[in-house]
Amino acid sequence: VADYVRVCSVDEVAKGAVIAADVDGTPVAMVHADDDRFYAIYDECSHERIALSEGEIDGCTLECWLHGSRFDLRTGQPTGLPATQPVPVYPVEVRGNDVYVSLETTQ
Ligand code: FES
Repeated sequence: VADYVRVCSVDEVAKGAVIAADVDGTPVAMVHADDDRFYAIYDECSHERIALSEGEIDGCTLECWLHGSRFDLRTGQPTGLPATQPVPVYPVEVRGNDVYVSLETTQ
């Protein structure tokens, strides 16, 4: 059974916004995407060591501000160059007013 950790409350991340969180020492970008769901993705681009939480949300993707690669928040796969490697994504659960993340990736 996955171990879920509370990261923030629902109100702390506006729709279309992203915050940087530390989940048991792992940097996680917590996204409230345009589809109204919450997504958690490892907070570092796979191209260079850039925090993805400083990027922009576009639909269900998070764009790295440095060179513009976008990562699908559901799979962690880059949808465009220069990044070619996926970034880990984590399961998220919204329980009441709180957002929880499990660091146990399924990939
Ligand atoms: S550092 Fe993210 S795309 Fe280059």
